[in-house]
Amino acid sequence: MDMREAMFLRHTVRKYIAKTIPQEVVTALDGRIRQNNEAYHLNMQLMTENTDAFNAVLKIVLAKGVHNYIIRAGPDTEALCEKVGYAGADIMLYAQTLGLNTWWVGGTFSRKGVEKHIALLDGQKLLGVLVVGYGQTQGTPHKSKRAEDISAYQGGAPAWFARGVEAVLLAPTALNKQAFTIQGNGNQVMMACDNGAFSGVDLGIGKYHFELGAGKENFTWAE
Ligand SMILES: Cc1cc2nc3c(=O)[nH]c(=O)nc-3n(C[C@H](O)[C@H](O)[C@H](O)COP(=O)(O)O)c2cc1C
Repeated sequence: MDMREAMFLRHTVRKYIAKTIPQEVVTALDGRIRQNNEAYHLNMQLMTENTDAFNAVLKIVLAKGVHNYIIRAGPDTEALCEKVGYAGADIMLYAQTLGLNTWWVGGTFSRKGVEKHIALLDGQKLLGVLVVGYGQTQGTPHKSKRAEDISAYQGGAPAWFARGVEAVLLAPTALNKQAFTIQGNGNQVMMACDNGAFSGVDLGIGKYHFELGAGKENFTWAE
C-alpha cells in the first residue's frame, strides 16, 4: 500500500484490539516522526503500551482498547497548527501503510494524562494526540461534501486539480466539517479553511492531501 492508497483506505477508528505493535513497526514509525520533527521543528512523541491519553469515562464509552498514541506539540507560533496538521497527515498516512489504524484527537483527550509524558519546553503547546494501533474494524467512509461545494477553478479544471480536491475530501477534519475553500487559476492554487479553533490543523491536513492527490509538480500554492 502506498501513501495515495492509504488516503482512500484510512478512516477514523476509535476501538482497538490488544495486539502489541511489533518492534520493527515501532522503529519505522519513530523514524518518520523524527524526520517530521526535524523538518518542521515540532515535538511529537510516540507512546506505546500506555493508556493515559483518555480519562476513565472515555475509555469505557469511546476510546476502547487505546494503548498507543503520538503526542503532538511544538513551539507556540502562528504557524504551529498548520505545521502539526501537515506533518501529522504524513505520519497518519504512513501509519496506515504500515497496517495500522489511526484516530486524530484534538479535543477529547486527557491533557493531564498526556502532559505526564512529554517535556513541554517553555513556549511549547500541546495540540492533541494521534491514536495508532490495530483497530477492531477498519472504520467507515465519512459523510462527504461534493467537490463543487468546496472548490472552483478559473476555466476548465485540469485533471490534477480534480484529483487534488478529491483527495482533500478524504481527509479527516475536526467534527467532519470539511470547511475548505480551494480556488485554482492556471497552476496556482489557494486553499483556506474556516473551522474555528481547528482551522489551522485542518488546513495543514487538507494541504497535505491536496499535494498527494494533485502531484506537487503540477501546481504552486498561492499565498
Ligand atoms: C483536528 C482534528 C481534531 C479531531 N478531534 C477529535 C476529537 O476530539 N474527538 C473525536 O472523537 N474525534 C476527533 N477527530 C476525528 C474526526 O471526528 C474525524 O476525522 C471526522 O469525523 C472524519 O472522519 P474520518 O477520519 O473517518 O475521515 C478530529 C479530527 C481532526 C482532523
